[in-house]
Amino acid sequence: MTEPLQTQPLLSVRGLSKRFGGLVAVNDVSFDVQQGDLVSIIGPNGAGKTTLFNLLTGQLAPSAGHVLFEGKGIGTLSPDRRARLGLGRTFQISQPLVSLSVIENAMVGAFLHHPGLAAAARRADEVLHLVGLSDRAGVRAGTLTLSERRRLEVARALATDPRIVLLDEVMAGLNPTEVVEIADLVERLNREGYTFLVIEHNLKVVRRFSRRVIVIERGAKLAEGSADDVLRDPRVVEAYIGRKRA
Ligand SMILES: Nc1ncnc2c1ncn2[C@@H]1O[C@H](COP(=O)(O)OP(=O)(O)O)[C@@H](O)[C@H]1O
Ligand SMILES: [Mg+2]
Repeated sequence: MTEPLQTQPLLSVRGLSKRFGGLVAVNDVSFDVQQGDLVSIIGPNGAGKTTLFNLLTGQLAPSAGHVLFEGKGIGTLSPDRRARLGLGRTFQISQPLVSLSVIENAMVGAFLHHPGLAAAARRADEVLHLVGLSDRAGVRAGTLTLSERRRLEVARALATDPRIVLLDEVMAGLNPTEVVEIADLVERLNREGYTFLVIEHNLKVVRRFSRRVIVIERGAKLAEGSADDVLRDPRVVEAYIGRKRA
């Protein structure tokens, strides 16, 4: 069996841009994510973070640049093809199927690689266990609390057996206890081998994940490095923290 080189990134972004009419929402962004990474993306509202995710998972087509998955260009593949390859994600505006049960929602993700009701139900059961929602499996998704809904979003992404999981502000609007619960969950899943790329506004969480932070401002990459270095960078303080407190 031929092993891929250790240095081959799982995901590479090269010169990625997206224009909406006159607005350059994503501007020449490049970075790599290695297998096993937990990378945070921060930046002010409107910086282009969600648009970047949409370019990675195929909801949007890039105006320029490349997305490589294990060295192969995937920039023209449909969202479904990319999901099959292993790009799993949550959406900033979560849309659980409210009239379906929690386990049925997780099964929607599980069907991607586990066709058949029994196999999908088994996988859904596993991921609900992973995110701590087993005891809610039978209730309608519309009755979940916000924090439970976010964990269901993560479960739906995990159910697709992703090689990398993209989380778009899954902690927004949660209270500090709930934030810690989800941060614990992400760290645990990362230790168990899941690779994460996480858009996150909570700087405490970003510091905690810490290994690598990418700062996006006005569509462009402003800085990249450890949380300590990046959050001390005067340009970042000016662009992100300064404005956020203003
Ligand atoms: N489909 C779209 N059509 C036109 N403009 C868009 C679209 N999606 C996002 N934008 C604009 O692109 C910019 C970046 O938005 P977004 O990626 O959602 O930022 P963030 O997630 O960092 O808050 C914003 O100015 C937003 O209004
Ligand atoms: Mg966003």
